[in-house]
Amino acid sequence: MKRAAIAGTGSYLPKKVLTNKDLEKIVETSDEWITARTGIKERHIVSKEESASDLGAKAAISALRQAKVHASEVELIIVTTVTPDMFFPATACIIQDKIGAINAAAFDLNAACSGFVYGLSVAEQFIKTGVYRRVLLIATEAMSRVADYTDRGTCVLLGDGAGAAVIVPAEDDEKGILSSWLAAAGKYGNLLHVPAGGSRMPASHRTVDEHLHYMKMEGPVLFKVAIKSMVEAIKKVLSLLSISPEELALVIPHQANLRIIKAVAKGVNVPLEKFYINVDLCGNMSSASVAVALDEALKKGRIKSGDLVLLVTFGAGLTWGSCVIRF
Ligand code: UT7
Repeated sequence: MKRAAIAGTGSYLPKKVLTNKDLEKIVETSDEWITARTGIKERHIVSKEESASDLGAKAAISALRQAKVHASEVELIIVTTVTPDMFFPATACIIQDKIGAINAAAFDLNAACSGFVYGLSVAEQFIKTGVYRRVLLIATEAMSRVADYTDRGTCVLLGDGAGAAVIVPAEDDEKGILSSWLAAAGKYGNLLHVPAGGSRMPASHRTVDEHLHYMKMEGPVLFKVAIKSMVEAIKKVLSLLSISPEELALVIPHQANLRIIKAVAKGVNVPLEKFYINVDLCGNMSSASVAVALDEALKKGRIKSGDLVLLVTFGAGLTWGSCVIRF
């Protein structure tokens, strides 16, 4: 079976920037608190006209360009998102139309913040089995659309953006996705969710009045679980591959909170300098966080040919997972 590799990446952040100072005018918070407790300074926010598919389409076009793959050659589009344009059709189908990938099958995958890592693993299976040779994976999130700007405990964390990757059969047997490790614990789903709008609690005047279409989060509980889960995910995938942490060139973690990233680095005994961090400028973009960070790391030259890179994530579901790629 052919190994799967990333042939190109792209990302897109909406133009509008919302700073901590801007948030001070909206909720009772301060730049000092947000910076000290989360490491976030600013985040990008969609305009009134934009939705998840617009961001995703832009990231996808840039990934295809880099991979030198024409949209018509794409055989499968996987979109990871918790903020789809609408319930259905899938945002993957909307993006398929926007980019003209007329020959591609398309579906959405919801693993919340873990979406990009889950999606890479799904894409990998299609490539390895030879079913497809060109898979476009897009993580796109308009988290500001589910942010409650009266709840200072959550709205200061969230940002919007999209990242994409083109997955193809590896030309070099030594390179590509080496292994993934995925996990979920549905019994803790209520720690992070949007209660209304689905089939359990459809939209009504009451759900709107009670802000039930916004993200609800048990922050302090999740803080501890996030660290434990990401440490576990890193250790599991390294042990599957018999790789030691010292061999890693870069770790790209989910960007929920700088304090979480620091604790994970300590937990696996990898220097913080080996962790890619953009939470300061992007906030938490759910599944798009790792995807955007990967594209930035590649474009900034933080990843060289032959480097071992580990992606690790954690989010609603609960879901968590990791993936090791040799570039
Ligand atoms: O995407 C993956 C899933 N998400 C996560 O992994 C997020 C995990 N959780 C966190 O990152 C942190 O728990 C938060 C950043 C959400 C909160 O930080 P914390 O240090 O756990 O704060 P806290 O919720 O325990 O609140 C401490 C204090 C409270 O005040 P009192 O009760 O001590 O007077 C809060 O009301 O900070 C207050 N507070 C704020 N103050 C100013 C909470 N949010 C804010 C705010 N500005 N934005």
